[in-house]
Amino acid sequence: MSKTSEKDAAVRDLLAAASGQKFSTVLADPPWRFENRTGKMAPEHKRLARYGTMTVEDICGLPVAAITAETAHLYLWVPNALLPEGLAVLAAWGFTYKTNLVWHKVRKDGGPDGRGVGFYFRNTTELLLFGVRGKNARTLAPGRRQVNILRTMKREHSRKPDETYELIERCSSGPYFEMFARGKRESWTVWGDQSEDYFPDWPTYANHSQSQSADSATTNQRTGSDHQLKLLQERRRYFNDV
Ligand SMILES: C[S@@+](CC[C@H](N)C(=O)[O-])C[C@H]1O[C@@H](n2cnc3c(N)ncnc32)[C@H](O)[C@@H]1O
Repeated sequence: MSKTSEKDAAVRDLLAAASGQKFSTVLADPPWRFENRTGKMAPEHKRLARYGTMTVEDICGLPVAAITAETAHLYLWVPNALLPEGLAVLAAWGFTYKTNLVWHKVRKDGGPDGRGVGFYFRNTTELLLFGVRGKNARTLAPGRRQVNILRTMKREHSRKPDETYELIERCSSGPYFEMFARGKRESWTVWGDQSEDYFPDWPTYANHSQSQSADSATTNQRTGSDHQLKLLQERRRYFNDV
């Protein structure tokens, strides 16, 4: 697919997933493309690629304002190195930056999980930018008691904490829309090319999001026996491989 048709397909699919609804809260975790100073995609990123990526320009071009209510909240994950780009995307989608939540990746014993990467410093945090649009856009009452830090253990590549959903549901009104979702979730409309079927097919942490312990509880609210069967088969293959 050409670059333009890939971009057009993303716009079309996003609008189709929203199916005319206007959402009061949007959560987005874009597939950021890391580029080096010459504008080339970082080679180590290509080598480790787990999914297709998008340019900041294409992410900015997604018609998010068209699928949100007049008054709405946006939660946008952004890697530390791309903070300026994150703020640009938030503005391009029609939101005003207000504050952020910090995800602190910790080990089982609660200490900082230093297995991350970082050219200048070893990253153990990630930012969830918070922006609003429209009038009376304050968070719900529990939001004002909510501290702006989440401390949880890392799971597979790019996987964000499930606690984020519960936090958002407490602090912001529905209907809820997730962009670039990996898996379904009750009470949320989801969009993303891995939103239907997702299973990490690379060696990763035992507590990854699709492991038995994880999906027995609150994580992906997948339904349907065919799907369960497929997951079991994939899981078996996965554990035989690693
Ligand atoms: C950073 S990951 C999201 C991770 C997710 N929040 C989680 O916690 O597992 C970005 C997702 O965007 C998807 N994606 C990449 N390009 C896309 C496109 N053009 N249209 C829709 N989804 C895309 C990727 O396949 C990947 O699932």
